[in-house]
Amino acid sequence: MKFMGTNELREAYLRFFESKEHLRLESFPLVPKNDKSLLLINAGMAPLKPYFTGLQEPPRKRITTCQKCIRTGDIENVGKTSRHGTFFEMLGNFSFGDYFKEEIIPWAWEFITETLQIPKDKLYVTIYLEDDEAFDIWCKKTDVDPNRIFRLGKDDNFWEIGVGPCGPCTEIHFDRGEGVITNVDDFIKAADEDRVVEFWNLVFTQFDKDEEGNYNRLSNPNIDTGMGLERIATIMQGVDNIFEIDTVKNILNKVSELSGVKYGADSQKDISLRIITDHVKSVTMLISDGVQPSNEGRGYVLRRLLRRAARHGRLLGIKGLFLTDIVESVVENYGLAYPNLKENKEYIEKIVSLEEERFNETIDSGMNILNDYIEEMEASKEKTLKGEKAFKLYDTYGFPIELTEEILEEKGMKVDHDSFKKEMEEQRQRARSARGESSYMGSDESPINKIEASINTEFVGYSNLDVSSKVIILANDNEFVDELSKGEKGYIVTEKTPFYAEMGGQVGDKGIIKTASGEAYVYDTKKNVGGKTIHYVKVNEGSIKINEEANLKIDFARRSNIEKNHTATHMLHEALKQVVGKHVNQAGSYVDDERLRFDFTHFASLSEEEINTLEDLVNRKIMEVFNVNTNLMTLDEAKESGAMALFDDKYGDKVRVVSVGEFSKELCGGTHVRNSGEIGLFKIISEAGVAAGIRRIEAVTGINAIKYMEEKQRLLKEACNALKCNEKDVLKKISSQNAEIKEKEKEIAELKSKLTSGVEDDIINSAKEINGVKVVAYSVDGIDGNALRDLGDKVRNKLSSGVVVLFSNVAGKVNLIAMSTKDVLDKGVHCGKIIKEVASIVGGGGGGRPDMAQAGGKNPQNIKDAIEKTYSVVEYLVK
Ligand code: ALA
Repeated sequence: MKFMGTNELREAYLRFFESKEHLRLESFPLVPKNDKSLLLINAGMAPLKPYFTGLQEPPRKRITTCQKCIRTGDIENVGKTSRHGTFFEMLGNFSFGDYFKEEIIPWAWEFITETLQIPKDKLYVTIYLEDDEAFDIWCKKTDVDPNRIFRLGKDDNFWEIGVGPCGPCTEIHFDRGEGVITNVDDFIKAADEDRVVEFWNLVFTQFDKDEEGNYNRLSNPNIDTGMGLERIATIMQGVDNIFEIDTVKNILNKVSELSGVKYGADSQKDISLRIITDHVKSVTMLISDGVQPSNEGRGYVLRRLLRRAARHGRLLGIKGLFLTDIVESVVENYGLAYPNLKENKEYIEKIVSLEEERFNETIDSGMNILNDYIEEMEASKEKTLKGEKAFKLYDTYGFPIELTEEILEEKGMKVDHDSFKKEMEEQRQRARSARGESSYMGSDESPINKIEASINTEFVGYSNLDVSSKVIILANDNEFVDELSKGEKGYIVTEKTPFYAEMGGQVGDKGIIKTASGEAYVYDTKKNVGGKTIHYVKVNEGSIKINEEANLKIDFARRSNIEKNHTATHMLHEALKQVVGKHVNQAGSYVDDERLRFDFTHFASLSEEEINTLEDLVNRKIMEVFNVNTNLMTLDEAKESGAMALFDDKYGDKVRVVSVGEFSKELCGGTHVRNSGEIGLFKIISEAGVAAGIRRIEAVTGINAIKYMEEKQRLLKEACNALKCNEKDVLKKISSQNAEIKEKEKEIAELKSKLTSGVEDDIINSAKEINGVKVVAYSVDGIDGNALRDLGDKVRNKLSSGVVVLFSNVAGKVNLIAMSTKDVLDKGVHCGKIIKEVASIVGGGGGGRPDMAQAGGKNPQNIKDAIEKTYSVVEYLVK
């Protein structure tokens, strides 16, 4: 048999079906669009479901693809068997109500036996038990030996999951063994032993299974075929393991070289080599398609694969970070088929190394803890690790549960799943909500998702904002209806609409739909799974009836603000590339009437200077009053013209390219201003990190930017008023106040320390004995009334017997206080009288009780005299 490289095979398949009038589409990203039933694309037909179910018109009735797929259901078998991998490529050709069995069976035979030249005596075919039609076609339209066709049951040769489109399939198998298999039992045995490998599945989607279990024949049956590229490559390259085909082997060799572990020398180590090879492939593809490591949904799949690969690197004795070297090899080997891998290489490597670093930091401490658990279990002869402990490893040390299980398995132990699950419930909830229910075609039972493809909803809102059209569908959440009445919420579909349905980060329009009989407020506009524009409405007046003529008018002021923000987003994107670097790519965007949000790939926060430069550049370009033009072209033409395309590639015959003068050119379906000058002003209001390697800028434009600046201006004015200065002196004033505060703080600190340490003793030491009574008269500057009283209390307590009179000069005012112990009252001491006399000397007055009195004064310069006066008053009072 002739040898064929994997890249060569892929091309041969796609060319073959192009020669049968198929439209070749690039692989769709791994992240499904508009399909809640699926976490990641897992088959060639998965991104084409709306074409199969008739909810969307395909660009052509015949399509062929080589689709990137990820399946993690059998992850624990990866590396252990010859054919399991989490990442694979599925070659497929699809007919949407066009050709059927009569065509596909002979084509498949032609491709296998003529293009690939696989010997006919190495091939077997299986069909569904009851599918006589397929049997006849195989016999009449190909030269397959009828004795090599076996009939199998529903489990093997019927394709259905849940309700909806389904049908029998025929599978083509390659025999690696010797001798002819003559009966179905021997065939099944040979398949179980991997002697016979299935490599192409042709599904005849001819029924629609209803809730009662009836198989209703579809009037336009479909064809969905899938051939595992890696599998057919093993056949064409004469190897028996998907890790030994050319492209994959190159990656595996790289792992082997890095670890110094020879492939084929130790079966346990071979498993690790294969796991790393497979998982890094998946990781590279996932990140390139925009998935970020996280603890839920797709991000968790990515994290788990990456951490598993990192751990197996350790098992092979690799020290330090190594995954990016493998990523490099994946990009080298797959860059031809998936060019955006090359474009995103730097970014992928950065994310991988950040995540690997993070894992390495936690894994050591986690491993120690797990080893302790294992020792404890060995000592107590237990075999099951408690769920709480496995959860702690997961939660605190980032150990995926599968990793814990794998390590335990090596010791013949396991995890208590029930209790682990209980602990995980909360975290898992989020992951589950991303997944939803699974079915072959994916199904959403709400009526608005069941609108037939033949019904057209034309968007005319690029240039028309107010149009008349016919109401063709009305629905509520449960069913289609003929009328929606006042107060009711529901959905309106019209033949034409100026309302933009939420897409590409731009929010849906709001506005009014009016008919002769009523009026509805459109509070949102979105596309359904089939791409039809749906107006989300609440009826304000009268009622809206089916088939009525309606006037549709969007909220123009709101749309205009949205457009300013959207065009500014494109300009910011280009400005980021120019100011921050070419590596900057859009990672997400959101545009509404108030602000714009732009997420992009970059690894450090932007400096004040970069932000100013960005704003400056965008504003200058706004002022150059560039015309904004839109052109329809093919994807290739668009890329050639230098238009920026995103992770989220657009497909179909034509793409729309939006250019802002010569400054920015980007693929986009959104609505924009006609001239950059309309934006008026662009102002960045925040810049922050949102995930590893992803930054977010928020900005405002037009009147919102002006309002934002006015608000800042108002704040400045208020600050000036509060500071009692004019604008140009604000900074000077603040810095002089800061200096003053600093000085004061220093003073306070000094005083406080003086107060707490020593000052009380100083005061007591200054006591004089007058006629047998201890008298303290002392001045402590800078202390207010309350503090003076506290200090007085302390001194009086320490003194145990006597009179305390304290003075304090606070900003030119005098506080004074007199206190005495009880015992000296009998001797004639009277604080009220003392204060009265003394206060008059410092220019004040006051009085009080015999044991406690307080006063104020305004002549601090007389404190000294007042102290002397204190002694004489006491001398006078105590005889
Ligand atoms: N959808 C079919 C498969 O996944 C072709 O095998």
